[in-house]
Amino acid sequence: MSQIVLQTDIPGLPKFITGKVRDVYDLGMELLVVATDRLSAFDVVLPTGIPDKGRVLSALTTFWFDKTKDIVPNHLVATDMDTIGARLRDAGVAVTADLIALLEGRTQLVRKCEALPVECVVRGYLDGSAWKDYQTLFGHGGEVKLYDILVPIGLRQGEQFPAPLFTPAAKAHTGHDTNITASQAAEIVGSDLAKQLEEKSIELYDFAQSYAAERGILIADTKFEFGLLDGQLILIDEALTPDSSRFWEARTYKPGKAQASFDKQFVRDYLETLAWDKTYPGPELPQEIAEKTAGKYREAYRRLTGQELPR
Ligand SMILES: Nc1ncnc2c1ncn2[C@@H]1O[C@H](COP(=O)(O)OP(=O)(O)O)[C@@H](O)[C@H]1O
Ligand SMILES: [Mg+2]
Repeated sequence: MSQIVLQTDIPGLPKFITGKVRDVYDLGMELLVVATDRLSAFDVVLPTGIPDKGRVLSALTTFWFDKTKDIVPNHLVATDMDTIGARLRDAGVAVTADLIALLEGRTQLVRKCEALPVECVVRGYLDGSAWKDYQTLFGHGGEVKLYDILVPIGLRQGEQFPAPLFTPAAKAHTGHDTNITASQAAEIVGSDLAKQLEEKSIELYDFAQSYAAERGILIADTKFEFGLLDGQLILIDEALTPDSSRFWEARTYKPGKAQASFDKQFVRDYLETLAWDKTYPGPELPQEIAEKTAGKYREAYRRLTGQELPR
């Protein structure tokens, strides 16, 4: 296990954005995306890091980018430390052995894009906020409209939709993103682009869902982010990780209840036992919970890629 990284600082390099999980540095035409070991639950970043989490997210995103590059191009330029070290030196950064050790395995050099303000959510199974919203709907003739899409009535929690749904969300600067309809997405980015986002998102999901299912993982839902580069649609951010998706254990899958999931299940279950009000600051996690969670992230990586996480 490598050191737990909760925050990073690269002297001499400006930050582009500090996300909940990623520290992103500005290299002009490119960005350096550093996945830390931070974990957020209920949209609050917890003070305890999860060992290896940043390396799993980074390696898994790289894995899927390679597998899906014929469906849609992505922003990845390089992950090797020779290329990254050279870019940093060009930017005037003193590249020390400590810096290399900090970044290695958790860092991606990517092309800077204009990120589109729509989160592209695809749902193959009914859960999360969609399950919450679904339960408030009243149907006619055997169907209800969920985010303007006709779906059967009487579905149980965790049940698979007849076909995956594209349910975009508007990016919120703070707090929760809000679910919007496909026509609202078209108002935000234009109808041609909205159509492309929907088609590419569904295609990516279909590919990944069948790939993962063969390896015992159900991808219940997932979120993609896209950017534009010279007018071309590019997949950005992270893709098909336990943070951006609901990964379920296929072996024990049974609709009608909450499923065993691959990500923050232990953390959420633990947090539900506390009196914490789910606002900042979050509580420390016991080491046992952090370790079990790390085990789940590593297992997702191992199952999907068939490899151990690179050292
Ligand atoms: N190629 C790119 N160009 C511009 N912005 C990007 C690119 N890739 C990722 N981003 C942005 O970097 C951030 C990644 O950090 P993350 O921790 O995932 O943030 P968040 O808390 O918003 O989920 C996101 O805001 C994402 O939109
Ligand atoms: Mg993110």
